Amino acid sequence: MQISFAAPSPKVQTGSWVVAASEGKALSPAAVKADKASGGALTRALKFSRFTGKSGQLLEVLAPEGLGVSRLLLVGLGKPAALDGKGLEVIGAQITARLDSAGETSATFEIEVPKGSKIKNGEAAAHLAFGARLRGYSFEKYRTRNLDEHKRHLNALKLTTAEISAAKRAWQGLDAVADGVLLARDLVNEPPNILYPVEFARRVKALAKLGLKVEVLGEAEMKKQGFGALLGVGQGSERESQLVVMQWNGARKKGNPVAFVGKGVCFDSGGLSLKPGAGMMGMKGDMGGAAAVTGTMLALATRKAKVNAVGVIGVVENMPDGGAIRPDDVLTSLSGQTIEVLNTDAEGRLVLADALTYTQRRFKPKFVIDLATLTGAIVQALGFEHAGVFSNDDKLSDRLAQAGRTTGERVWRLPLDPAYDKMIRSKIADVKNIGGANSGSITAAQFLKRFIDDGMVWAHLDIAGVAWQDGEHKPMIPSWGTGWGVKLLDRLIHEHYES
Ligand code: BES
Ligand code: MN
Ligand code: ZN
Repeated sequence: MQISFAAPSPKVQTGSWVVAASEGKALSPAAVKADKASGGALTRALKFSRFTGKSGQLLEVLAPEGLGVSRLLLVGLGKPAALDGKGLEVIGAQITARLDSAGETSATFEIEVPKGSKIKNGEAAAHLAFGARLRGYSFEKYRTRNLDEHKRHLNALKLTTAEISAAKRAWQGLDAVADGVLLARDLVNEPPNILYPVEFARRVKALAKLGLKVEVLGEAEMKKQGFGALLGVGQGSERESQLVVMQWNGARKKGNPVAFVGKGVCFDSGGLSLKPGAGMMGMKGDMGGAAAVTGTMLALATRKAKVNAVGVIGVVENMPDGGAIRPDDVLTSLSGQTIEVLNTDAEGRLVLADALTYTQRRFKPKFVIDLATLTGAIVQALGFEHAGVFSNDDKLSDRLAQAGRTTGERVWRLPLDPAYDKMIRSKIADVKNIGGANSGSITAAQFLKRFIDDGMVWAHLDIAGVAWQDGEHKPMIPSWGTGWGVKLLDRLIHEHYES
């Protein structure tokens, strides 16, 4: 979607013209202008509709007389005091959905912020565009028929505002974040026969052109270094396991980086502890954590964030063959701790264990945040609206919660507590990889904590309920893969860790 910012003109003459009203049918100046230019078409239509100006409401006038546009679209902004960036993004997405389903190819948004709201016009335009771009996404590369039915039509969006330079400045950052979200969605949506570990690594390497430093460790190197847990997961697969390390050094000063670690299981069959058919569907998305880390690193590099950041993803395929790990095997992790594998389907924590050790040892980060589609239990607990967060640091946890409220990628904290440790005690090794029937997300987090160094600030995000969506789509997410986490992590960095 092509997005541009321009000064308002007296009349819009092509495509759709979108103007706004706040709650109580209070027409904005642009709406009044459009109404006059169309000989009162909007006020006439208002009389015969239930439009009140509630946030996201739409009133459409087709082929208004006296104007060259195909339609006038009046959008509700709700109560001025409640209007913020996130709300405008949703509104931008709702308009886009409507225009797109109508087959419209170009539109001009002339949406002023009403008096009494906190956000400024330039910034508001950028947030509208951000919502439009996220909603304008589609993943159609594997369709060869009926493409017209599925593809996006709206491809040019002009946002008019008196504050052009402020809008462009805000857009530079948001456009980069959108790039990251869309990449993460693409990665999650790709089928697992196409996106296997080596291919995932190849796609990350292509990001080096943005100034990211990318390194890939293959199986031989990881074996030499002792990645026994991660390699154990991949050993039943025909596809080679990979560890991908991304670095972005954008801070003014040298200094320890922040670190993100992602679970990248390109397909999770469960291994020998095979998943039943229905539970295996969608397990191409089990690399959603790695996708979020990759998308975040892309966003940081693209907007030249003033931060030093590393992203480390463990990319593997969990398959059952004669060489696969067995329930009862004992693996020696990179940390030296031994792990009794009692269920090969609890593989994500094995991958993360080694990736976390590697990241802490090599980079001594300020903090490490891992993201993983780790447990079905988190979906039971929190559904599709929050990711679970587990942390040994109240400040980091609070910052994540706040960034979640700002961006809409919300997180809910759950406990870590030594009292759960007995559930992962092994009869013969240092730890076992399952904790029993209850509190499955907590015992998984408790397992990861065994691989966090003393004093390391750490948060674990269990994103199993939010990395993809079946059924009804959220307004800004028109595909199965959500790209969840990129907005959240970018916001966290932007608010607290740029120098
Ligand atoms: N990738 C799954 C978790 C998952 C399940 C994500 C459903 C999204 C939807 C993970 O590897 C897994 O299989 N976890 C097991 C752990 C159990 C064997 C201790 C689970 O949650 O059932
Ligand atoms: Mn599994
Ligand atoms: Zn998994």
